[in-house]
Amino acid sequence: MSPFIEIAAGPPRVLCLTRDIPVDEASLASGLSDESHRQLRQITHPARRQEFLRARYLVRIATAQEVDPPRDGDGVIRWPDGLVGSVSHSLGDVIVATAARDVFRSVGIDLERPSRIRAELAAKICTPRDLELVASGLISVAEVFAAKEALFKCHFPMGRKRFWFLDAELAHVARNDTGAELSLRVLVDSGPMTPAGTVSNARVIPVPFDDAVLVWVAVAGPERQSK
Ligand SMILES: CC(C)(COP(=O)(O)OP(=O)(O)OC[C@H]1O[C@@H](n2cnc3c(N)ncnc32)[C@H](O)[C@@H]1OP(=O)(O)O)[C@@H](O)C(=O)NCCC(=O)NCCS
Repeated sequence: MSPFIEIAAGPPRVLCLTRDIPVDEASLASGLSDESHRQLRQITHPARRQEFLRARYLVRIATAQEVDPPRDGDGVIRWPDGLVGSVSHSLGDVIVATAARDVFRSVGIDLERPSRIRAELAAKICTPRDLELVASGLISVAEVFAAKEALFKCHFPMGRKRFWFLDAELAHVARNDTGAELSLRVLVDSGPMTPAGTVSNARVIPVPFDDAVLVWVAVAGPERQSK
C-alpha cells in the first residue's frame, strides 16, 4: 500500500495522509530541514508533533524533494521551482495540493470538520448572498467556511494582503454527483493581481473519511489564461 491516498490526479493533484495510515519514524524524520528540527523542538503536544511531521513528510512526497521546502515568515511554503501548492490539516489528517505554476499561479486548499462549525458562525462568515445560497440548500456553512479559508490560502502568497470572511463571497455554485463547482469573488483588493471583483474557481471534492469537507481554490496561470 502506498503511504498516502491520491484523492485527485489534478490539476491540482491532491494527496491525503489520513491519521490511520502508518508511517515509520525513520521516514518521518529523514528529510527534516534544520528549520523544521528547530520548530519541532518547540512542539510538546504528541498529536501536534505527529501532524507537523506528517505534513512535512507529505509535502516532500508531493514535491519529490528529499528535504522540506522552507516556510517564510508568513508561514507560506516556498514551493520548488515550477510548482505551487497548499497544505491543510485537521485532527491528524493531512492534505497537500500541488500544481504546475504554468497551469495555476496559486492554489489554496482547506479541510474542515462540519461538526466544528457552529450554526451561529453563519452570520460572521457569510454575506447576504452566501446566506441565500446556504438557505437554498446548494451549499453548507462548513463548505462556505472551507472555501473562504482556501481562497485566503490561494490569494495570500501572491498578494500578501490579509482579508477576512466578509471580504469575499460566492459568485456561483453548481452541485454535481461528487461535490460542487464554485466561484468566489473577493470584495476587496487582495493583491495587485487580484483586485476587488476578481473571481477565482473552486471545487468541493469528496474525501475518504466521514464528517469532513475539502475545498480547493485556484488562480489560473499563463497556460490556462492563454486558452
Ligand atoms: C493561514 C490560515 C488560513 C491557516 O488555516 P488553518 O485552518 O488554521 O490551518 P490549516 O491546517 O488548514 O492550514 C495550515 C497550513 O496553511 C499554510 N499557511 C500558513 N500560513 C499561510 C498563509 N499566510 N498563506 C497561505 N498559506 C498559509 C501552511 O502551509 C500551514 O501548514 P504548515 O504549517 O504545516 O506548513 C489561518 O491560520 C489564517 O491565518 N487565517 C486568517 C485569514 C483568514 O482566515 N481569512 C478568512 C478567509 S477569507
